[in-house]
Amino acid sequence: MLLNKFAKRDYSLVGKAQNAVALNDDLIEERVEGTWWSPDIPRKELKALMVRSDGPALFHFGLWILLLIASGWLAVLSWGTWWAIPAFLTFGTIYSSADARWHECGHGTPFKTRWLNEFFYHVSSFMTLREAHLWRWSHARHHTDTIIVMQDPEIQVMRPADLLKIMGDFFWLYSGPSEVLRIVRHALGRPDANVRTYVPETVRQKMYWSSRIYVAIFIAFGIWSYAIGSFLPLMFIGLPRFYGGWLHQLLGLTQHAGLAENTRDHRQNTRTVYINPVFQYLYMNMNYHIEHHVIPMVPFHALPKLHQAIMAQTPPPYTSLWQVYKEMIPALIKQAYENPDHHIVRPLPAPVVTELPLQERVNGQNGHQTLAEKPQTSAGTWVEVCAVDDLDEEEVIGFDHNGKKYAVYRLQGDNFYASDGLCTHEKVLLANGLVLDGCIECPMHNGRFDVATGKAVKPPVHEDLKTYPAERRGDKVFINLPE
Ligand code: FES
Repeated sequence: MLLNKFAKRDYSLVGKAQNAVALNDDLIEERVEGTWWSPDIPRKELKALMVRSDGPALFHFGLWILLLIASGWLAVLSWGTWWAIPAFLTFGTIYSSADARWHECGHGTPFKTRWLNEFFYHVSSFMTLREAHLWRWSHARHHTDTIIVMQDPEIQVMRPADLLKIMGDFFWLYSGPSEVLRIVRHALGRPDANVRTYVPETVRQKMYWSSRIYVAIFIAFGIWSYAIGSFLPLMFIGLPRFYGGWLHQLLGLTQHAGLAENTRDHRQNTRTVYINPVFQYLYMNMNYHIEHHVIPMVPFHALPKLHQAIMAQTPPPYTSLWQVYKEMIPALIKQAYENPDHHIVRPLPAPVVTELPLQERVNGQNGHQTLAEKPQTSAGTWVEVCAVDDLDEEEVIGFDHNGKKYAVYRLQGDNFYASDGLCTHEKVLLANGLVLDGCIECPMHNGRFDVATGKAVKPPVHEDLKTYPAERRGDKVFINLPE
């Protein structure tokens, strides 16, 4: 009985219970829509926080590149002396903070210019040894099912807690080799059953080819090291993620370790913690982790402001890393040796209801339910959605009709568009998304569709959205729906 209690639990996505949810499972709509807690924040305030611009990210990444070059140069100069230890530790720490850059660029939020996000996403993915295509899909699933057992592929501390693994991963000794083996496996075109549940077949070829490029670079650097009889080249490619990974682990554990599993409230399974400015810079503000999870559309530089805006609705932030670890370490020891079900319970503030929660910002729930059928001027029926003034430029509004959800967009002036209201990826309400450069960005995983054509233009969405004619008639907005 006691042995059973401490037996390794099944966290695989295709485990014994076979309850993994495939991407095309109809149940996914039920799982995602309206199930997560979301903060109450006025739309205009939120929209201001979601604004994208290249400036802050160019400064941020520019400084990071300079730090990499400077610390790398010092490391080369120190090679062969005892100074190499602090020099490479510094370089490796900065290098391993590529993980935060991989993460941010994967969400597509730091830069306004898409190719810049993609460029830094692929470079940072390689640096942090997370193959770009695999981890884009893995991370999408992490946001859908954060710390839901057998559904989230990115649960860092499984129960009962394995303390050796946690400590070993301060130098990526436990998770690193298996991640490298996974890249090799994908280079051979052999994803395991877990990966097949969240990486769609249509993108697997890209994953294989990207993995092959990673492997080719490792081999090239290995040959170079062998040829010159020194492992100095490998100290710059591959190994930094190991010897410099301590800060990533120190900060990464604060995200979810020791907190609740299987809850749909990020305030119970995620932490926000204040850290010093140097760590915060290297971590790209991911210490505001509750804020990031509840609204992933907010770019890194605006997370502190989002924190201020919703802090009355979230548990008190931890004021230091010390405060986190003072609570987390005993909880993990307890999970390891006493009670694997133990977890920290965060105090929740009393609910505040000032206006509609984010997930209810749709017609039919916000007082605009004024359907009026217009005479037909084309196939289908023209249906009134709202007053023109209810929909600002560069905005979206949700609309329910005959039990179906639609999203109606206004670009500049009187350019109105309409589409199905649910994202084709995991059926999330697009009305909670962000209109950006003629696209709608999904609030769940930051996938994007062109609002005029419905074309899926940014992963993880890969299936187009159905669109409908929309126009201004007098001071009202109408959309044309099939009979
Ligand atoms: S639900 Fe994943 S991008 Fe929309």
